[in-house]
Amino acid sequence: MKAGFIQTSPIFGRVRENVEDAVKRIRALDADLVVLPELFSTGYQFRNRAEALNLAEDTGAGYAVTRLMDTARDMKVYIVAGLAERVGNRVYNSSVLVGPREGLIGTYRKAHLFWNEKKIFAAGDTDFDVYDIGKARVGMMICFDWIFPEAARTLALKGADIICHPSNLVLPYCPQAMITRSIENRVFSITANRIGSEGRIRGRNLKFIGQSQIVAPDGTVIFRTGGRKAEGKSFEISVKEARRKNITPLNNVFTDRRIDLFNL
Ligand code: ACM
Repeated sequence: MKAGFIQTSPIFGRVRENVEDAVKRIRALDADLVVLPELFSTGYQFRNRAEALNLAEDTGAGYAVTRLMDTARDMKVYIVAGLAERVGNRVYNSSVLVGPREGLIGTYRKAHLFWNEKKIFAAGDTDFDVYDIGKARVGMMICFDWIFPEAARTLALKGADIICHPSNLVLPYCPQAMITRSIENRVFSITANRIGSEGRIRGRNLKFIGQSQIVAPDGTVIFRTGGRKAEGKSFEISVKEARRKNITPLNNVFTDRRIDLFNL
C-alpha cells in the first residue's frame, strides 16, 4: 500500500484556507492513507478557551471533516487529520480517521496535553482504538503522546500496523524518539508535522520543526522531510513487515514482555 503525510503551514484562524490548501495537497498525492498535522485546520496557539471553542467544529460535522470526507471519497484515500473538536462547551485536541466509503470512521481525543494546551483543551477521554482499513490496521495518537510509550504500545498490542501521528512539534526530540516507538513495537509510524511559527501570545513565539517522517518497523527512516517546506510525500510500504514481532528467532517484542515483573 501507499502511505504518506502532508506537511503544512497553517495560518492561524483561517480554517477554509488551511483546509483547502490541505485538500489540494491530498489530491496531488498518490496514496491509500495520508496523515495531516495536529490542528491542521485552525492553527495551534489559541489565546484562550473561548477562541478555541469558536474555531472548533462539532464532531463529524464541520467544514474540515466534511471536506476531508469529500476528498477521501473522490480520491479513494483514507485520511487522518488533527482538528479542534467541540462537544458542548468542551474542546478536544482530536484526530479523525475518514474513509472513501465510510465517511467518519473514528475520532481520537489527545490524551496527553502539552503545556498550555491544558488551559485550552479537555483531556482526551477516548481509547487508543485500532481500525481496519482493508490494506492495514491503523491507530492514532497526537504529538506529545509520543513521550508516553504506553500510547504507541497500546495501539500496537491492539493490532495497529501503522501509527498515524498528527503533530505540531516544537521540541526537537520527537522525530528520533518515534524511531524507537517503531522499533520497540515493530510498527510503521507516520508523523505529520507542520512548519512555520505562531507568536500570538507575547513572549511565547512557537516555531514548528517540520521533519515529518515515515518510519519502518525495523527503525529505518523511509523518509524525513525538512523544516522549511510544506509538502506531501507517499511511499510504498509492506504492511506484512509490521506483523512479524520477532527480532530474533527467540525474541518477540510482545510475548517476551515480563508483565509479571511490571507491578507498579
Ligand atoms: C504538542 O504536543 N503539540 C507538542
